[in-house]
Amino acid sequence: MNKAYLMVPGPTAVPERVLQATHRPLVNHRGALYEEMFSRITAGLKTVFRTRQDVLVFPAAGTGMLEAAVVNTLSPGDKVLAVSIGVFGDRFAEIAARFGADVEVMAFPWGRAAEPERVAERVAADKDHRIKAILVTHNETSTGVVNDLAALAKARGDHPALLIVDAVSSLGAADLATDDWRLDVVVTGSQKALMTPPGLGFMAMSERAWTANAQSTMPKFYWDAQAAKKAAAKGQNPYTPAVSLLFGLEEALKMLAEEGLDNSIIRHKRLAEALRAGFKALGLKLLAEDAAASPGVTAVFPPDGVEAKKIQKVMRERFGITLAGGQKQLENKIFRVGHLGYVVETDILVTLAALEITLSLLGANVELGSAVKAAGQVIAEG
Ligand SMILES: Cc1ncc(COP(=O)(O)O)c(C=O)c1O
Repeated sequence: MNKAYLMVPGPTAVPERVLQATHRPLVNHRGALYEEMFSRITAGLKTVFRTRQDVLVFPAAGTGMLEAAVVNTLSPGDKVLAVSIGVFGDRFAEIAARFGADVEVMAFPWGRAAEPERVAERVAADKDHRIKAILVTHNETSTGVVNDLAALAKARGDHPALLIVDAVSSLGAADLATDDWRLDVVVTGSQKALMTPPGLGFMAMSERAWTANAQSTMPKFYWDAQAAKKAAAKGQNPYTPAVSLLFGLEEALKMLAEEGLDNSIIRHKRLAEALRAGFKALGLKLLAEDAAASPGVTAVFPPDGVEAKKIQKVMRERFGITLAGGQKQLENKIFRVGHLGYVVETDILVTLAALEITLSLLGANVELGSAVKAAGQVIAEG
């Protein structure tokens, strides 16, 4: 017999309270009960996004929201600077290119954060303001690297380019201040730090983004932000909403409010530190340096002679702990531990304890207890 631990960076484990809420009988999505709930939810989302603007809700995967961000603000031929540090940065660039934007990719090595100085230099060189938008991934889930979003926002400075942010694996787990940092579009999904099953996408747009929206000619129908905004003013959605998921989301937002958004961000940071201390005690190499370490996902190299996929297999089959693998060029080179959303100290300790045994079963030279001890010290220091 095993207990299941879903230690992947999304979709993440969903709290019992949230699951229970998704089982409630449906209500009419054009009726008062729904409208009141939807208005409470959008108010709660504003708090999490730290914005006074509307937060639009779509039934969607995160990728749908990346597309929504692009098609609602840009026109074919627009010059776009896509800052990429991994798989999801590349995807954002590809979406913009597919819709006809003139995309310039500013790529950084996988495992490293984007350098705000490079962005500042690039926009300073754009004297005639050809760049209409800068695409940025806040937390690059494929490498476990968090970008310094506040510094990137500062690097844009007074340049009129919109700053469009993929916050799919960061919002709720990493500090993000939509209005204070003058982020123009921020998108995320339900299935990561927001502790809700996959299927809901969210998008906040600044006044500048709405102005760009009025001029944007990229094709859109389902993703049309104006239709979503108009319906939201009545507590509704233009098309059938994912009602059951919204029941769950309301409960998850309550949980987040009970903990406090700041405390959630602190919790994620501390869990990441404890986990990283454990990996280091085992002599494992981490893909991201401490300064750019993601609060929600950690990418680790296996010890010499041990295959990453074998580690994942033993962890899953022997201990019921599901880890994520590497993506694209990192496939089977790393494994990733998600610690995002409904994750607590004991999850970290259990994962490290099982990993020590797994590595020793696979023939690595491991001192049992060393990772748990190191993580325990971080936790005890509080
Ligand atoms: C940073 C980031 N952006 C975008 C996505 C895409 O989300 P989805 O798989 O829901 O389409 C993910 C998914 O892991 C992600 O981590």
